[in-house]
Formats: sequence, C-alpha cells, structure tokens
Amino acid sequence: MTSVPPEADLRPDPAPAGTPPLRVALLGCGVVGSEVARLLLAQSADLDARIGRHLELVGIGVRRLRRDRPGIDPALFTTDVEALVSRADVDLVIEVIGGIEPARSLILTALGHGASVVTANKALLAADGSTLFAAAEKASADLYYEAAVAGAIPIIRPLRESLVGDEITSVIGIVNGTTNFILDKMDAEGAGFAETLTQAQDLGYAEADPTADVEGFDAAAKAAILASLAFHTRVTGADVYREGITEVTSSDIASAREIGCVVKLLAICQLSSPDDAAAERTVSVRVHPAMIPRSHPLASVGGAYNAVFVESRSAGRLMFYGPGAGGSPTASAVLGDLVTVARNRVRGAVGPGESSYAARPVTQIGSVLTRYHLSLEVADVAGVLASIAQVFAEHDVSIQTVRQNGRGAGAQLVIVTHRASDAALSATVESLRGLDAVREVTSVMRVEGE
Ligand code: HSE
Repeated sequence: MTSVPPEADLRPDPAPAGTPPLRVALLGCGVVGSEVARLLLAQSADLDARIGRHLELVGIGVRRLRRDRPGIDPALFTTDVEALVSRADVDLVIEVIGGIEPARSLILTALGHGASVVTANKALLAADGSTLFAAAEKASADLYYEAAVAGAIPIIRPLRESLVGDEITSVIGIVNGTTNFILDKMDAEGAGFAETLTQAQDLGYAEADPTADVEGFDAAAKAAILASLAFHTRVTGADVYREGITEVTSSDIASAREIGCVVKLLAICQLSSPDDAAAERTVSVRVHPAMIPRSHPLASVGGAYNAVFVESRSAGRLMFYGPGAGGSPTASAVLGDLVTVARNRVRGAVGPGESSYAARPVTQIGSVLTRYHLSLEVADVAGVLASIAQVFAEHDVSIQTVRQNGRGAGAQLVIVTHRASDAALSATVESLRGLDAVREVTSVMRVEGE
C-alpha cells in the first residue's frame, strides 16, 4: 500500500539557500490594501510554497501615516510612494490606490524599471489601459488586473486565457453591487429610489457620494475592460453609452413585474453578427437599467452580488457569480494575480499582454437594436390606440404587446416593442409626446435577455 507523504513533503522544493526573495511594494492601504497586507503576512508560508520563492513585503505607500493598522509593522509604511515604487530591487508592485493620478505615474514608474504590476484600478484601465499595456510589453513585465472587474469573481482570466480560443459574442454583467442592492431592495419592498439609496448608505452598501455607482460610471469602466478583452479590441470608458439608475421608479419595477421581468443595471458588451449587412463587425458597449425576464440567470442575482453572463460560439452560455466588492473578496483576486505574476518571475516568463488586433469600431447607441417597454398615460376614448399605433408604424417600430391598465381619466397603456433601433425608438417617443391623446410618457425602458 502506498503511504501518503505528510503535507510538507508535497510542497514544491524550496528555493536554494541564498536565493533572493521577490520583493513586493503595496501602494494603498484602504479597505482592499489593508486586507492584502494582512493576508500577505498571515499566509506567507503557503504563498511562498505555492510560488517556490519567498515573497517579502518591503513597503506600503500611503497618503497619511496612521496608527490604527494592527498586525502590520509600522516601519513598512511610507508616504514617499514615488521613492517606494522607484526602488530598483522591487520585483512586484500592487496598486490599490484607485483613480487616474498618481496611480498611472506610479504604475508606469514600476513597469519602467521592470517590476510586474497587479492593479485593481478599473477607472485607470478603462481610461488609459493602452498606455499601461504598452509599458508592460516594453518592459517584458506582467500587468494583471483580475480585481478590477467584479471583485472576487474570476472573469478577467477566463476571458484572457480560458476562452481565448473561442469567439465570444456577448458579455452581459451585473458588475456593480451597490446598484444591484438598491434595485433588488426596490423590487422586494416596492420602495422608491431615493429612500432605498438612503437605506443602502445607512447599511454601508452605498458610499456617501454614490455618484460613481448610481450614475453607472463604475459599471461603464468595467464594461470597457470586459469588451476590450472579449472582443480583442480597444474600448475606453468614453466609448461606453451610460445611463444610471437614478430615474428608475417603483412603477417601472412594478411594470417589469407585470411582464414577468425584473429591473437590473446591466453592462452589455456585444459583437455584431457576421451576417449583419455592415462590412466589418462592430462592438456595442452600454450600461443602463433594463428589464430582464425573471427566468434569465442574471435575474436571480440578488443583494450586492455580481455576475457576468458570457455567450460564445463554441462554449455556449457561461455564468460567473460571486461577491463583486469588499476588502476580503477583492484581496482574494489581488493575491491570485500576485501569486501568478510571482510564479512567472520565478520561471522568467511573462503572461499574456493586451490583445487588441481586431480594432473593431464601436457602434453608436442610435444604431443599437433592442426591445422596449413603454408606459403612457392616455385619454381613454375611441381611436386613441389607433393613433398611437400609427406613430409606431411611422417610425418602423413593431409592437409586440399592448395592455391597458385602468380606464377613463386614469388609463395607462403599456406597450412592449419588438427589436428596434435606439434612434427609431427615441423618435417614436418624441412623436408620442406631441399627440393630444398622450398625457404623459411615464416610462421608457429597454428589455433585454430574451
Ligand atoms: N462600488 C463598486 C460596487 C465596487 O458597488 O460594486 C467597486 O467597483
């Protein structure tokens, strides 16, 4: 009978005595950074064994020196972040400061002297990823960023490595936990946006300044990163059409429920079909609230959770689900990247860089085709439906269903269309607003995920 060796015997051979450690500089020590530092120190022996080399945390760059960082040697902290990142003996740099500057300059300095970089900085990658990727390529260093999109969920590596032999046709994500928490609560409790946002802030799910989340900027940055990777092209945050959730009302959510849907803030990245009339294939990238059928896998993503639904030609449909934010989940993604880039260093290898060979044009929102749900307050008299249908027909927007709620002065028409262009739908809404029979267009929302 073969005996199982004790666990210590299964570990890779330790580095020969005298092998220098891999030196790590951590930039930022907020919610994510402090958890990264804690785990780096607490799991040191296991991380070293997985890498085959000792990882030594040599410094933590912070804006202000504080005393309340238990478990971390105070001597590691420095406010001279530029000097820390410029150290020629630093092999690996973790950037969790966020924002554009000074993060960009610090990352470029690190790459400039050949250090590999792990970053969680979605805003920077979406705004100027190409500059960072070019610098990494030039330095033959790694630039890894699993934590930039959807926290702990492995989605960057699946797109960059596991699915790179396939053709991805669509990536649809719930990539912002704050807005998902708010919309989920509005759905469960029938409450309005403003009061639910206040509750989310009281519970610590939303920031005091919630703009980046509720206006969709955070999700748009993540959409740009996902689309670039999925379609081998370059999409920036500025290319992404964006609408937040501040205008979503409790009656939108109730209307969604009536047609078997739920409202979610979606990041939608799509590659045009090769059968479309256009000479070259294009990508559309957008972030907006949308109704999706309750039977869709993304509909069941509740609370502050994230999920990314990928469709590809050969693999079919895949769903990635998990915690999309928070210190510990995000630190897990950062450390996964750190171990990977450290292993690459030990082997003298570099992981995959940017793949943007396809250079696909980004479709303007006006040409994007989708279904729409409209609610109208109307006069409840003969011929009104005909005049409204006529407006849809004039703009070549085909109606799928019509329902009337209430009667007399309180009559409401709920119309769901077949797929129409955003431009045609906008023109239809403009014309409806000019009809005497239409008192108000109370809601217009896209319907996704057939
Ligand atoms: N604020 C984001 C969210 C997490 O609510 O999901 C960081 O991107």
